[in-house]
Amino acid sequence: MKSVIPVELPQQSYEIAIAPGGLSHLGHWMQPLKLGQKVLLVSNPMIFKRYGETAIASLTAAGFQVISHMLPAGERYKTLASIQKVYDVALEHRLERSSTLVALGGGVVGDMSGFAAATWLRGINFVQVPTSLLAMVDAAIGGKTGVNHPQGKNLIGAFYQPRLVLIDPQVLATLPPREFRAGMAEVIKYGVIWDAELFAQLESVDRLDQQRYISADLLQTILSCSCLAKAHVVSKDEKEAGLRAILNYGHTIGHAVESLTGYRIVNHGEAVAIGMVAAGQIAVALSLWTQAESDRQRLLIQKAGLPTQLPAGVNIEAIVAALQTDKKVEAGRVRFVLPTQIGAATVTDQVSAETIRQVLQPMQAD
Ligand code: GLY
Repeated sequence: MKSVIPVELPQQSYEIAIAPGGLSHLGHWMQPLKLGQKVLLVSNPMIFKRYGETAIASLTAAGFQVISHMLPAGERYKTLASIQKVYDVALEHRLERSSTLVALGGGVVGDMSGFAAATWLRGINFVQVPTSLLAMVDAAIGGKTGVNHPQGKNLIGAFYQPRLVLIDPQVLATLPPREFRAGMAEVIKYGVIWDAELFAQLESVDRLDQQRYISADLLQTILSCSCLAKAHVVSKDEKEAGLRAILNYGHTIGHAVESLTGYRIVNHGEAVAIGMVAAGQIAVALSLWTQAESDRQRLLIQKAGLPTQLPAGVNIEAIVAALQTDKKVEAGRVRFVLPTQIGAATVTDQVSAETIRQVLQPMQAD
């Protein structure tokens, strides 16, 4: 079973292909795009060891000439210095405007490769082959690319859309369970803000905390529904002038928790899970959402093995202060995405610091 989801954009539309076993047909998927012969495959050593050979064999069989480059794994290497090394390889191998950079990896590889593709020769072709659940349902779609500045995450970047996103769900079999759960947080997000049917499907299964408990059919549904939601939102608002902001559900308090714990104690998905619990309760406090719906969200988050409490030692006042430095602050007011029913959300800056304190109080670690 495969699904092809279009991302319709004024400048350049593209497809998200969800195809089990698709990695061995990467070259075939790229052929109709009329790309130049040279491909720079960017990955990290661990992913490349597992999947690099398959990707290269498929690209070579389709007539592409492949060079590869490894980025060191981990968020702390998401820097301009790493990008410089990609440029060096591009120069050494004389990549041209018609050449293609293929990102084979998770969000860090995708974000960095996309930024290198956006900027080398003012933009070369770019293909995303995400290997983590989080990258498949979120980071690889929609054209957000970039690197971190020492003072903050993703402060340097560009919107640059790929020509193709190829998702092979079979590669998730080797994803560590904690990373799988991190991706599930973004899947639950789509259920809450966009797709009540997806939410109900997630509720109907016993366990969501490891891929092995999820059937191939349900996994395909999870991927398709999540990608459809993201494709729809990005098609309507590519540069986040309005609607796209709803994708930041759970990310306001989530980012504060991530940054206060030095990006070490909780991963991004875990922080988003905590942020969704808090945002849900803020919506209840503002009478936008019912307690029953917020409880259903909490249960789903727990079923995915994700945290619903603040990490030990994270101080509520520190969170309230950290919110002021969030990218989502406008004219001094923090913007929250809040659910209004399961499957719909709104953006508001009408959340007082007092409400945030009240909601976080019972979420403190025992
Ligand atoms: N990850 C949120 C977005 O792509 O807009």
